[in-house]
Amino acid sequence: CGIVGYIGSKNSADVVLHGLKKLEYRGYDSAGIAVVNESGDLDIRHAVGKILFLEDNLRDAPLNGFLGIGHTRWATHGEPCLKNAHPQVDCTSSIAVVHNGIIENYLELKENLLSKGHIFKSDTDTEVIAHLVEDYQKTYKDTFTSFLKALNDLRGVFAIALINSKEPDKIFAARQFAPLILGRGDGENFLASDIPAILKYTKSVYIMKDGEVAVISRNEINIFDMVGNMIKPNFFEVKWNEEDAEKGGFDHFMLKEISEQPLVVQETIGQRVFFENEFEPYKEELPKDIVRGISRICFVACGTSYHAALIGKFLMEYLADMPCEVDYSSEFRYRNAAVNNSVLTIAISQSGETADTLAAMREAKKRGSYVLAITNRLGSTANREADFSILTRAGLEIGVAATKTFTSQLVTLYILALYMGSCKRSISKKILDETLSYLLEVPKRLEEYFPKFLNDIEKSAKIYSGYKNMIFMGRGINYPVALEGALKLKEISYIHAEGYPAGEMKHGPIALLDPTTPVLAIATRSAVTYEKVLSNIEEAKSRRSRVVALISEGDKDAVNLVNDILYVPDVPEIVSPIYNVVPLQLFAYYAAVWLSRDPDKPRNLAKSVTVE
Ligand code: G6P
Repeated sequence: CGIVGYIGSKNSADVVLHGLKKLEYRGYDSAGIAVVNESGDLDIRHAVGKILFLEDNLRDAPLNGFLGIGHTRWATHGEPCLKNAHPQVDCTSSIAVVHNGIIENYLELKENLLSKGHIFKSDTDTEVIAHLVEDYQKTYKDTFTSFLKALNDLRGVFAIALINSKEPDKIFAARQFAPLILGRGDGENFLASDIPAILKYTKSVYIMKDGEVAVISRNEINIFDMVGNMIKPNFFEVKWNEEDAEKGGFDHFMLKEISEQPLVVQETIGQRVFFENEFEPYKEELPKDIVRGISRICFVACGTSYHAALIGKFLMEYLADMPCEVDYSSEFRYRNAAVNNSVLTIAISQSGETADTLAAMREAKKRGSYVLAITNRLGSTANREADFSILTRAGLEIGVAATKTFTSQLVTLYILALYMGSCKRSISKKILDETLSYLLEVPKRLEEYFPKFLNDIEKSAKIYSGYKNMIFMGRGINYPVALEGALKLKEISYIHAEGYPAGEMKHGPIALLDPTTPVLAIATRSAVTYEKVLSNIEEAKSRRSRVVALISEGDKDAVNLVNDILYVPDVPEIVSPIYNVVPLQLFAYYAAVWLSRDPDKPRNLAKSVTVE
């Protein structure tokens, strides 16, 4: 979910709507805005579906007022419908609340309020907050004290913004485990779930911490802890401009972000690979003595970041000789994971806000493990809670399906594995130098790749978008790439796609193969598994499946076996995932576009899932 709030001299609904559009990637099954209008009353508009529908509503029935809050929702409690859209109000319709997260004890609170005569109109946990504040106001009068009291009753995850038409010069906000930022302007102030929502108006930003409460008026922002002690906030200047958050001439953010990958790789490598005596690119982020003290790595991550972690395992084993396991964050947190102070838990999360990954990190910490967070967001919860943090340098990613952040995670993992191998003296100088030189070539070779092969990929995507199911297969370091290719395709085109290690096909999935189920095989050159993948392609062909394969430029063997070819540069196998994922991202993108799906905003998905 996404939250925006504004107080100042502009029409608040316009500012809030603009912000909500920038946050649409956080969820978009319904949206709403509440303002205090000129007569001092709450005025609210809701719409189910994309923000576009809310915008239409506002065109027909505009909102006017200098104080407003808004919300774009990704349903957790209560199905997406008008009555469950935020803002939610109290019985007197003077208090409006928007909320991101889950109030775990809402049923208990609701029962208590029902017994006091409160009438509820929605199925949401959010509505409880409005009623709770209303209830406390009967005793404490002022909104701030009542808000604090209510907050202390809540258990769970939340970022909240609240307005009260009886106190129309303030927005009240609080953060507990869900992101919330404040923006400072001249005679106007802002709040939002994420920075792009307010960049058009201000660059002076404060990232609220868990347990902080804010009271925002036109001319000041005051921060308190949950019992009302004042805290001095440190605002900082954001360097992004708004254009960074725009599409820059591309049809979709996803295509723009895929195309940015050469630059992203360059940025992530930066100056880190140049060294004189010792290779120590992350010595500030992860001290050498820590690396030397650990004997095992445990990756935790979700979605695309999980696939990066699977490749990370391969790299850690190959380049650092480090035993390594990988777990979904949502699984790790509930099992008896054997981690302790000789284990480094590496949490990978582009947003640094994924609830399951944060919970896995906390669990690992509790068990005594060191935690390293790899994220793309400075100041994210994962960064703040981890013992050590490395930032990827992908820049802002708006498309819901992760693309350039994945590549920047991969590049970071290569450099990290080489660093660990160097610290532990388990990598030879030859492999270190070689791998670094391969990495340094990536930006240029990827840059050349796009103009050369974009059309071929688009053509193939068109063909395969006609199927309902598809199998992706790869082996070794490219097995996770097959998983990622399948995930991209299903996420944005809604074609059912599954990734498998090619060698596993014969143990079950091969039963699915027939002319209606095509196969995408990653058959790029490799020392050990190339021949094997070719046999797996033969097996698919003999079941009359159509086969499209990723093939290294110049390869003659695989070419004759397959129906369609997606060429990739002929590169050493160890760095091949960085190249191979690009055509798969484009394949999914063009399939989605061909099927008239919106690749930037796939149904049911959110960019950053801040609930369990
Ligand atoms: C959501 C997104 C995915 C992403 C996953 C993990 O499900 O839709 O694209 O891979 O979250 O996100 P994170 O921010 O932790 O990498």
